[in-house]
Amino acid sequence: DKAEKSGYEHFMLKEIYEQPKAIQDTMASRISQEQVDLSQEISLSSQVIQQIDKVQFVACGTAYHAGLVGKYVFEDLTRIPVEVDIASEYRYRNPIITERTLVIVISQSGETADTLAALREAKKAGATVLAITNVVGSSVAREADQVLITWAGPEIAVASTKAYTSQLIAIYLLGTYFAQMRGTCTVEDAKQIVSELTRLPQRVEAILEQSAKIKDFAAQIVNHEHLFFLGRGLDYAVALEGSLKLKEISYIHSEAYAAGELKHGTLALIEEGIPVISLATQRAVYEKMVSNIQEVKARGAYLLGLTVEGDQELQKSVDAVLHLPETLDILSPVLAVVPLQLVAYYACVARGFDVDKPRNLAKSVTVE
Ligand code: G6P
Repeated sequence: DKAEKSGYEHFMLKEIYEQPKAIQDTMASRISQEQVDLSQEISLSSQVIQQIDKVQFVACGTAYHAGLVGKYVFEDLTRIPVEVDIASEYRYRNPIITERTLVIVISQSGETADTLAALREAKKAGATVLAITNVVGSSVAREADQVLITWAGPEIAVASTKAYTSQLIAIYLLGTYFAQMRGTCTVEDAKQIVSELTRLPQRVEAILEQSAKIKDFAAQIVNHEHLFFLGRGLDYAVALEGSLKLKEISYIHSEAYAAGELKHGTLALIEEGIPVISLATQRAVYEKMVSNIQEVKARGAYLLGLTVEGDQELQKSVDAVLHLPETLDILSPVLAVVPLQLVAYYACVARGFDVDKPRNLAKSVTVE
């Protein structure tokens, strides 16, 4: 059993540590001469790519959270309007689909019943369907018009980790490729994204080296039954994924909030000692984020903050801080999620629950 886990205590931990390789493998053959080249896999002509007037990301669970990142990334890079839907909602909501709609379904297993049903609905309505999946030959891969495989390798733990970060890489590659084709980013911008993408594996590695510190982070929350995650922009999408991870395996109830929305209700729940994990990696909203952090701090919250290397400010407003390696803001989710995965993992271990097989959950939900 231990051999299967390559010496790791649990599959989830092994898979968290496999992320530098998983993301490397997902981008490796798709980058050449500082440009993204997907022409071997995606058979959409540049004319078709230019005519797309709407993108819809459709997925479940963690893959849905990758889609939320996809919205920011695609709108920013390609200027195509993007919707993100939970597959079980999409399939019943009569979405507006035309021949110029690109539906991107994301599914680690490629077998999730709702995602597959959504794919079929979209195809029937005339959309082009592109699948991002980890399983070659899966139902989703077979039925989609276009397929981009994430090369994360088999994921065994129910809580998804390396599949998620690999899905993010697939999204960056697609977004950049489309932007190159549509002329919505300059050659220089594309080069910069590509060069920063290729540095992500070593940057994830650097975060994993801080695991002892992250374990201390986790120790601060294990005896609580409720906590909050806060973020703005891409940090909000990551906060949702961090919150899901924690709920799935540690059974601690948590909620992720867009920090600006706090005042509209959640602030009422902030009381003395409640842990709040705050993400402040997005430079454009950094000041706003710090002021939200101060608001919860003033009400007695215990704050764990995530920020970028070199930031000396955040630590003045939080109880504990973790610095992430520098990268482009747009790529930050790949780094920011890693400590949150480890927090969930260590919290689960400390509380004595089954890491790889959480109660009531299945790795792949193949029935509705
Ligand atoms: C299940 C798993 C989740 C996963 C979701 C979607 O709920 O426990 O980890 O994110 O299904 O799975 P998929 O294979 O479609 O990505």
